[in-house]
Amino acid sequence: MTSSSSPIPPAHDSGSPDPKLWSQRFESALNPVIAAFNASIHFDIALIEYDLTGSQAHVQMLAHTGIISQSEADTIDQGLETIRQEYRQGQFHPGTDAEDVHFAVENRLIELIGNTGKKLHTGRSRNDQVGTDIRLYLHDQIQHIQTLIRSWQWALVNLAQDHVQTLIPGYTHLQRAQPVSLAHHLLAYFEMAERDWQRLREIDQRVNVSPLGLGALAGTPFPIDRQYTADQLGFVDLYRNSLDGVSDRDFAIEFLCAASLIMVHLSRISEEIILWASEEFGFVKLKDSCATGSSIMPQKKNPDIPELVRGKSGRVFGHLQSLLVVMKGLPLAYNKDLQEDKEAIFDGVITVKACLEAMTILVMEGLVFQTTRLESAVGEDFSNATDVADYLSKKGVPFREAYNIVGLVVKTCLSQGKLLKDLTIEEWQHFHPQFSADIYKAISPRQVVAVRKSFGGTGFTQVQNALEHAQSLLEA
Ligand code: ARG
Repeated sequence: MTSSSSPIPPAHDSGSPDPKLWSQRFESALNPVIAAFNASIHFDIALIEYDLTGSQAHVQMLAHTGIISQSEADTIDQGLETIRQEYRQGQFHPGTDAEDVHFAVENRLIELIGNTGKKLHTGRSRNDQVGTDIRLYLHDQIQHIQTLIRSWQWALVNLAQDHVQTLIPGYTHLQRAQPVSLAHHLLAYFEMAERDWQRLREIDQRVNVSPLGLGALAGTPFPIDRQYTADQLGFVDLYRNSLDGVSDRDFAIEFLCAASLIMVHLSRISEEIILWASEEFGFVKLKDSCATGSSIMPQKKNPDIPELVRGKSGRVFGHLQSLLVVMKGLPLAYNKDLQEDKEAIFDGVITVKACLEAMTILVMEGLVFQTTRLESAVGEDFSNATDVADYLSKKGVPFREAYNIVGLVVKTCLSQGKLLKDLTIEEWQHFHPQFSADIYKAISPRQVVAVRKSFGGTGFTQVQNALEHAQSLLEA
């Protein structure tokens, strides 16, 4: 934040930080097992860059409002910057005795710059501080995840582009229903991802609200300027109630909910890829770069990547559940239970990012659709039966009546081991006089797909439009 050179004493040289920053109210040190139990430094060190940035904004505000002098603020700012460099160079390793990242930084600051460092915590509390850190962290991570979602969407669109004309059986109840364009199927996941992206953007508006300056729970008697720190840190709004602001974790729950939905979507496509890659379906083959073998069965090629994604979804749902439970019984305002938010949030972020990355690579380079097998699959079943009913109803037979007639046609075919396309025109006309030679075209899988031109349907022209819409959305 500041780059003017000020004489910063080397580590351990001056200042005398208390072994533990508790006041003299305490007579004995914490039992070491209790200290370790209480500590969060081993995971909240992940917040250090945000903690430093938040403290730098706070200290500049203290100078701006005349609570401390500008030169004191600059000294503190420099000290914080030194800690940042130490951390980045792998030279900052606070132990359990520091308890958490906030104390670790404050202790080190006092070690570095002496008594001036003891002014850093004027007019704030760790409660508004940790809330600030976690919000800054999450705001940043949301941008990263949104970028990864965009890459995921590109991967889907690029693959879809190659498969507008590829047909694949469409299912309901995992029973063959109607054939669809493979691109249409892939673009369904594009749509889910788009909602995920939008959802994160909406949530970010509530993540990006500043609690800094709310104090422990009730505000502060110092003439602080909360808008000043909020502006410095890029927050778009301020909490209006100190009790709410220091103990609100709605934004974290909303994030984990959004993360869970991302995982639901990734898990669904994973499940499909796993099924498609089986011998039974045979719709897709996995490239070696994205598949794994067995330690004993040499013939195996396993879909570990989508299986792991499917499995990891449970962790994220668990984090959402755990944070809901942490929150539900908390009286106002801050309670130490809230320290439990961090590992849930961090692991949620790490998991979602890793899964998005892996699935993007899988879809970009790992799948070879077996087009011959797909082509024969859509021609081997009764998924064109609806089209026979539609055919008759276009010729004036009421749909329900047509539906019943086609039911009989299917039953007859099944008993004779035939498909609809195998019936002679005489056989068709035996079921209804309105059948004529154009029935054969109407029931060909390609035609069955092509005619579904209603908005949002799988007709090739619709799919082409959807693809163009998706591309323009990504390019915007
Ligand atoms: N490590 C704590 C947390 O993560 C920081 C806030 C501690 N506040 C307190 N009053 N003990 O929540």
